[in-house]
Amino acid sequence: MPSVPSRCRIVVLISGRGSNLEAIVKAIETEALPVELCAVISNRPDAQGLEVARRHGFPTHVIDHRLHPERASFDHAMMQMIDRYQPDLVVLAGFMRVLGADFIDHYAGRLMNVHPSLLPAFPGLRTHERAIASGASQHGATVHFVTRDVDSGPIIVQARVPILPGDTAETLGARVLAEEHRIYPLAIRWFAERRLAVRGGQVLVDGGQQSAERPPGETP
Ligand code: GRF
Repeated sequence: MPSVPSRCRIVVLISGRGSNLEAIVKAIETEALPVELCAVISNRPDAQGLEVARRHGFPTHVIDHRLHPERASFDHAMMQMIDRYQPDLVVLAGFMRVLGADFIDHYAGRLMNVHPSLLPAFPGLRTHERAIASGASQHGATVHFVTRDVDSGPIIVQARVPILPGDTAETLGARVLAEEHRIYPLAIRWFAERRLAVRGGQVLVDGGQQSAERPPGETP
């Protein structure tokens, strides 16, 4: 008898509100996302996202970065906890600590992040404010693989939103966040379905280079 392929195992890292985690959980529960969420780990004991995870019955852990003055020790404690679950993919969902090279190399090719801008535009913080100040007409969100250079790994999918007259960082941020919630579960699904490959720093979806936000046959 052919064996049933096992579900892609993911561990999600958070630091705060957890709305992207919630979008991922919803997609799992509605079977739009065929993965097993093994655990949610926060570097902050007060992260609201921990409540989201508990409410839905997923295991949670806190590795408090304040108890690890050295980054290497924090990263090591995170890796030990993550690896207990043997995940296929580690998902950064509003995880606000910069991770060291050893951590990133350990999860190379299986570490994803969502960033609230159309990378390579506006890496770093306060992206909505900076997008408005730049006079750009469009902004958006990016899901990418994490590499040693912050906010610049291979891009898996992006979604655009308009910048409207009178937008504030809050109104624009809300429009972008809705797109993050749409494209993050999608990128994780492509990974779980083994549809992603990275060649020469570019992500291929189903073997094709992704030039637009909609890969072949898909409505993100
Ligand atoms: C998101 O905008 C994400 O792109 C950024 O931090 C925010 C986290 O939001 N890295 P949430 O915790 O998922 O609600």
